[in-house]
Amino acid sequence: MGHSIKRKEDPRFVRGQGTYVDDIRLPGMIYLDIVRSPFAHATIKKINPSKALSIPGVLAVITGQDLAKYNLHWMPTLMSDTQMVLPVDKVMFQSQEVAAVLATDRYIAADGVEAVEVEYDPLPVVVDPKKALEPGAPILRTDKKDKKDNHIFHWEVGDKSATERAFAAAKTVVRQDIYIPRIHVASIETPGCVAQFDKVTGKLTVWLTTQAPHAIRTVVALVAGHVGLSEEKIRIIAPDIGGGFGGKVPVYPGYVIAIAASVLTGKPVKWVEDRMENLQADSFARDYHITAELAAEKDGTLTALRIKTIADHGYTDAAANPSKFPAGLFGICTGSYDLKAAHVQVDGAYTNKPPGGIAYRCSFRVTEAAYAIERMVDIMAHELNMDPADFRRKNFIPPDKFPYKSALGWEYDSGNYDGALTKAIEKIGYAELRKEQAEKRARGELMGIGISSFTEIVGAGPSKHFDILGLKMFDSCEIRVHPTGKAIARFGTKSQGQGHETTYAQIVAEELGIPAGHILVEEGDTDTAPYGLGTYASRSTPTAGAAGAMAARKIRDKARKIAAHLLEAREDDLEWEPGKFFVRGNPGNAKTIQEIALAAYTNHPQGMEAGLEAVSYYDPPNLTFPFGSYICVVDIDKGTGEVKIRRFVAVDDCGNIINPMIVEGQIHGGLTMGMAPALYEEINYDEEGNIQGGSFMDYLLPTAVETPKWETDKTCTPSPHHPLGAKGVGESATVGAPAAIVNAVVDALWHLGVRHIDIPITPARA
Ligand code: CDP
Repeated sequence: MGHSIKRKEDPRFVRGQGTYVDDIRLPGMIYLDIVRSPFAHATIKKINPSKALSIPGVLAVITGQDLAKYNLHWMPTLMSDTQMVLPVDKVMFQSQEVAAVLATDRYIAADGVEAVEVEYDPLPVVVDPKKALEPGAPILRTDKKDKKDNHIFHWEVGDKSATERAFAAAKTVVRQDIYIPRIHVASIETPGCVAQFDKVTGKLTVWLTTQAPHAIRTVVALVAGHVGLSEEKIRIIAPDIGGGFGGKVPVYPGYVIAIAASVLTGKPVKWVEDRMENLQADSFARDYHITAELAAEKDGTLTALRIKTIADHGYTDAAANPSKFPAGLFGICTGSYDLKAAHVQVDGAYTNKPPGGIAYRCSFRVTEAAYAIERMVDIMAHELNMDPADFRRKNFIPPDKFPYKSALGWEYDSGNYDGALTKAIEKIGYAELRKEQAEKRARGELMGIGISSFTEIVGAGPSKHFDILGLKMFDSCEIRVHPTGKAIARFGTKSQGQGHETTYAQIVAEELGIPAGHILVEEGDTDTAPYGLGTYASRSTPTAGAAGAMAARKIRDKARKIAAHLLEAREDDLEWEPGKFFVRGNPGNAKTIQEIALAAYTNHPQGMEAGLEAVSYYDPPNLTFPFGSYICVVDIDKGTGEVKIRRFVAVDDCGNIINPMIVEGQIHGGLTMGMAPALYEEINYDEEGNIQGGSFMDYLLPTAVETPKWETDKTCTPSPHHPLGAKGVGESATVGAPAAIVNAVVDALWHLGVRHIDIPITPARA
């Protein structure tokens, strides 16, 4: 898509000669590396920097005590909790930041880290969130004076008594404990930054691997305003980013230390996390201990859902959920089914682990929700001895019920679940596969077919319900059309590889008739882009994409006035076809958008302001509800327990598609990321809080070798409220895939008495 080339030509990067944070090299730049704790919970008795400071090139060792002088040793999280930048008295998880070393060279900084001596006094460790909530558990957040337990929040939604009544009246009830383990965002690029404080102008520029540059600027201003960093003097630039997936929304201590070090030294400071640090200490995803119950009538009509969940957030709640939704959008857990009643409660717990709960390629806990309901529906279908496809069809919300108000309060915009499932069934040849399965089962072979008919909820706002730290969740676009008919469009979001440069240009091109190649798309620079909440939770197309269309339409409205002036016609006598206005009934009497753009600067009507530009801050009236039906076929080796995905058909529906090739790419990547936790990935801790799976030797990241051939297709059910009829898609496959795979494995084993297997389904578990 050529955006790297564009970035390389961008003069702001001449000094850095690169496109990613780690490519930036500024004159006089110094390097930061971080000392980390070997203990999961310990008092820090002493930090002795003298050996480190004796290494030539080591400039300083920074501790929590140093930061405390400026009240920068703690910072707020996006969930209004607090997180240590550097500890003053104790550490709370293994690999936590303990001190920072500044040096003239990256390798010298690493040597300095080795030489810092820290004395610890271990404290009792809490790793199990259920035990953390038991009376008598060691209280972890002793920094919070009034905190007498490890409970973070209680959140519930739904009609409890109606749900209880429905369960009491149900003919069949299934109940299942489901654990969704901690997993980790392993982006190609780890987090990092270059902070450059100019002592003369007082301006701070930070090149930062962030998905939300504007919000970060505001947070920096709020946290460090008292040391002179006011918002107009802070410039956050998110350059090219090698994958975010929710892991680059939080503020990491390394960023803050680098900024503080640059302000103190007046030198540019670079911090780039290494792979092991990234895997062991960054914010984690999932870690949901779910107990789910589903109720059905005699004929298999589903009636009610009840879920209780304990969410392990590590030692601080540093997720990035909208503030009114501490459990994110888990309330989408009624999924694609017409349930009369539901009740859900989630309790957050502190443990001695890194922060958890980030939205890993997921619209704030939607993956957990989709997995829970799709597993439960499958268990119920098997329990009732009904075909899982027929069972789903019987219980889907029918197309004529949209907009549909769910039992947990969401208004689904549009859907045709049967349409997607039917397409998937036809594509995979479902009936023949079931025959084959019966034959194989008779021969003692293990083959399974799993379905997942998920519904997502993406595109936060609307701002009346959604904010982060009080910042309303809208998004923005500003377009300027230059005199020669070329344009620049700037957005409040930030691509991390999703191809916004391509799709946003297409949106503006479609609305204005300017070729996409003549539209420069920019995001990520807070000095130039309009304020926005950023890119995560598949919100870019539903929010900023819509803002792009709305800003372009404002420009078209002005262009009509200019065209009427040029053509000496009345505005309402003009018709638009992409690229020109013409007089109704006389297509030859026309003005192109390029001619109109020139006139906007050279020959605009008297009394009209010159120029052709517009800005839109788009507040979506509702979220969008993309969906899909995935079918997975597995063969299980009876000897080794190895699960082989033989086929996987994914039918997605994200409404109108802007760029089919990009959507296809999003789905392919998402499917592999959905397979990963189903079969390979998990982060565990032993009793002492030692991380298991802290390197790629044992955290199994699937590669092209493990990835089967994904067979994709689509249906199209436009969103009625989005200006382009589009819904988000970036996360659909990650959300939908795990349940299809697990359902297939359990389908292969159900006749042997297996109801559920927790993920990842390694050969040992299968
Ligand atoms: O917020 P994020 O960019 O991760 O997610 P998204 O809005 O789902 O978009 C992912 C990519 O797919 C973007 O380049 C979108 O413009 C593109 N897309 C599309 O072409 N058509 C859609 N209906 C939805 C997304």
